[in-house]
Amino acid sequence: MRVMVTGGAGFIGSAVCRLLAGERDHEILNLDCLTYAASLASLAPIENRPGYRFLKADIRDHEAVGRAFAEFQPDAVLHLAAESHVDRSITGPAAFISTNIVGTHAMLEGARAYWSALPASRRDAFRFLHISTDEVFGSLGEDGLFTEKTPYDPSSPYSASKAASDHLVRAWHRTYGLPAIVTNCSNNYGPYHFPEKLIPLTILNALEGAHLPVYGDGSNVRDWLYVEDHARALEAVLMRGRPGETYNVGGRNERTNLQVVSAICDELDRLFPGPQSRRALIRMVPDRPGHDHRYAIDAAKLENELGWRAQENFETGLARTVRWYVDNPAWWRPLRKTYDGARLGLEKV
Ligand SMILES: NC(=O)c1ccc[n+]([C@@H]2O[C@H](COP(=O)([O-])OP(=O)(O)OC[C@H]3O[C@@H](n4cnc5c(N)ncnc54)[C@H](O)[C@@H]3O)[C@@H](O)[C@H]2O)c1
Repeated sequence: MRVMVTGGAGFIGSAVCRLLAGERDHEILNLDCLTYAASLASLAPIENRPGYRFLKADIRDHEAVGRAFAEFQPDAVLHLAAESHVDRSITGPAAFISTNIVGTHAMLEGARAYWSALPASRRDAFRFLHISTDEVFGSLGEDGLFTEKTPYDPSSPYSASKAASDHLVRAWHRTYGLPAIVTNCSNNYGPYHFPEKLIPLTILNALEGAHLPVYGDGSNVRDWLYVEDHARALEAVLMRGRPGETYNVGGRNERTNLQVVSAICDELDRLFPGPQSRRALIRMVPDRPGHDHRYAIDAAKLENELGWRAQENFETGLARTVRWYVDNPAWWRPLRKTYDGARLGLEKV
């Protein structure tokens, strides 16, 4: 297949490109404008593959998007380009509205113009996959899981902008018949993750002996999914998903933030024992405004209908992730210089 991946220089997009161009034999056009969150070094394993191409372009640029469709002639689009960090969305929501909503509109219009001019057989087979988050559903109490039928109730500027983009994608399916599919996934972790997010930030701070910030009382729960399992889930949806449907993606790995940070300390203590546990570096810091208490995904539809299963559990995935950061300072050192770990997103407090 010829697959256009937007945001392919980011964390999840690069995992998707490495899977589809590296382990499979698809032709990939990676369209990314290279924001602070991008790293072309994440594509090093596939950059010389004949089927892999990179295009520096902004999804908000209708002309550039139109040209990319016309020249690459994709069979499918995996739309991942977005502003993705909740704390940054609290400090500066404008970029989230612009990229996540206006940019998704430009992608949908580019896809619609291209798709509607395809011959019938290619038109039926075309797919537009929109990659979204479980944060659109808001917060759960102590019990229950998000299903595909859970009503939207986003809390942050980030999740509200993703919710808006999900609605646009569904509207383009219902109104114009664009063969679009939405996926809503829980928190990802793994190699090549920009060190502003909890897991890579904690690993790198712990390696450097710096404090390990935990928001609030550390009791907020996230449902963690290893990024390569997410990439394989998107492949399953691309191959077997039904247009107009939504699929929740999650690993059934609920952990409190304090458990996550403690597990990273324990793994590093196991690899590099010291005089005292790295847990001594943990510091509770003021909570994020509007911090959702708990997210948890019911992935039964994806598992039962499309036959996907997560291959990693939290322990195996975290061990692989910690080892990867230990072994790959050449990847993360330059990014540590562009972002020093300063706290963002405390505007209301
Ligand atoms: N990280 C998670 O835990 C998670 C969970 C569920 C869903 N998602 C969704 O998956 C997608 C990818 O997330 P991620 O964590 O890999 O994000 P990321 O921040 O690591 O990467 C985003 C990529 O998009 C690119 N980009 C941003 N604005 C762009 C624009 N205007 N034009 C072209 N490219 C642009 C960036 O350069 C970057 O390479 C996002 O849509 C996000 O909402 C993420």
